[in-house]
Amino acid sequence: MRQASILYFCVGILALLSDTWVQAEDPYRYYTWTVTYGTRTVLDRPQTVILINGRFPGPNIECVTNDNIIVNVINKLNEPFLITWNGIKQRRTSWQDGVLGTNCPIPPGSNWTYKFQTKDQIGTYIYFPSTAMHKAGGGFGGFNIASRSVISIPYPIPVAEFTLLISDWYRAGHQALKQNLDRGKALPVPDALLINGLSKGASFTGEKGKTYRFRISNVGISTSINFRIQGHTLTLVEVEGSHTMQEVYNSLDVHVGQSVTVLVKFNSAVKDYYIVASSRFTKPILTTTALLRYAGSNTPPSLPLPIGPTYHVHWSMKQARTIRLNLTANAARPNPQGSFHYGTIKVVKTLVLANTAEKINGKLRYAVNGISYVDPSTPLKLADWYNIPGVFSLNSMKTTPVNTPAVLGTSVVGTELHDFVEIVFQNNENTIQSWHLSGTSFYVVAYGDNVWNPSMRKRYNLLDAVSRYTVQVYPTAWTAIYVSLDNKGMWNLRSAIWARRYLGQQLYVRVWNDERSLYTETDPPPNTLFCGLAKRP
Ligand SMILES: *[C@@H]1O[C@H](CO)[C@@H](O)[C@H](O)[C@H]1NC(C)=O
Ligand SMILES: *[C@@H]1O[C@H](CO)[C@@H](O)[C@H](O)[C@H]1NC(C)=O
Repeated sequence: MRQASILYFCVGILALLSDTWVQAEDPYRYYTWTVTYGTRTVLDRPQTVILINGRFPGPNIECVTNDNIIVNVINKLNEPFLITWNGIKQRRTSWQDGVLGTNCPIPPGSNWTYKFQTKDQIGTYIYFPSTAMHKAGGGFGGFNIASRSVISIPYPIPVAEFTLLISDWYRAGHQALKQNLDRGKALPVPDALLINGLSKGASFTGEKGKTYRFRISNVGISTSINFRIQGHTLTLVEVEGSHTMQEVYNSLDVHVGQSVTVLVKFNSAVKDYYIVASSRFTKPILTTTALLRYAGSNTPPSLPLPIGPTYHVHWSMKQARTIRLNLTANAARPNPQGSFHYGTIKVVKTLVLANTAEKINGKLRYAVNGISYVDPSTPLKLADWYNIPGVFSLNSMKTTPVNTPAVLGTSVVGTELHDFVEIVFQNNENTIQSWHLSGTSFYVVAYGDNVWNPSMRKRYNLLDAVSRYTVQVYPTAWTAIYVSLDNKGMWNLRSAIWARRYLGQQLYVRVWNDERSLYTETDPPPNTLFCGLAKRP
């Protein structure tokens, strides 16, 4: 008995130590990224795009669970700039999230080094600029986290993998789009869809009989896509860090800001096949193709393109409900994903967040529960840490929808570290929405039509809902999520539809407790940038 408790004590100490030492032990990956404008003929004429080290899209980050990622970003644009790491948890370090609520922007002509760890994460993610409308100009890339070799994955290791970044694209360029929004006008339908920056001609080659992993992300700014491959099926294995039940699909919807991983077996005749991405819920429908090529093929692909859904909202909702967690599979740690019984935890707070499009001072703005978010010149996180008054106040936004006209404001919802929260995204507009939360993933417990009410809770999936970072909300419908707020910090809850976020459809969730401890949150990094009312202490 005594021996056993001493043993447990030792194991406990070891666990604590390994948690603090992990930063020193895990590998470091260093990147230096120079961000510039460049000219590329993306569609039919040259236009200004944003390059990272001369590349459009930017380089992919390939790493392993727990790696330390050091990225020195050199801003050679003529505007302040930040990159955010979409779905990277930034455990204890919202200092590295790269949004204006947590970071001062990197001034033009200078650089700033991000330092963070892919702590306990696996899966397919993306990074992109968070400032202005830069995301519409490029500066994005893939962020792939492989499992550690000691952790088994729930499918045979594929022979190789491909990263597909799918985005909508405008000929007008990100500066013109921003001016358009600044004048208070909505964005038009995009001109095209791109796969890895190309409107056609991207190709992916494999050998007959082998299985490949396709990491597919929607890095666009406004358009949901449907993805499919002629003559082949897609076996879904992972969604933003969760291993899913391995369902087989002919095509998959991927909404703005989302990532999925599928296995594709090359089991057809040796020739080329069309890979198709087409827009969802848009008129007109945009379609782009790439090629799936069998090694040794001399046969071009043949028409027609495989058809996909276009406006079918319920098709999409039904498909979304089939995406479920594999409870017995590992994620980044050897304990199965189902060992966290989220369905049995008591909800301590419910937020019902309704998006609206309204005019404020004659200009289009987007709002959440009557507040259209405006970034203060002092990052919220710095104001919070250094007790700078007058930047934000907690709970200035109502936690249920309002019927009053929207006003400009700085919404911060206050929560306690480890709060278990229900969030309902209520979409009374007839356009698709996509919501992203930084800092932690959430369980998508239900999608429903019309207006949510508490009786809808009976329909929640409390067993095997997928855990992810970005979720769609269908036109005139709602989506409910459960989130365990276990990561102290200031976290952006935002529309992934970029014009909406730019014009105010976002807020921050402050996850806090009064105890100052490196186990729950690190101090500001030594290279912290200061701006607004925040001065170097
Ligand atoms: C800027 O880059 C230099 C190396 O070129 C590096 O030493 C310095 O730490 C970087 N500055 C910041 C604030 O990260
Ligand atoms: C779930 O994960 C297990 C590994 O624990 C794997 O063997 C099984 O095939 C997976 N099931 C499905 C349906 O994906």
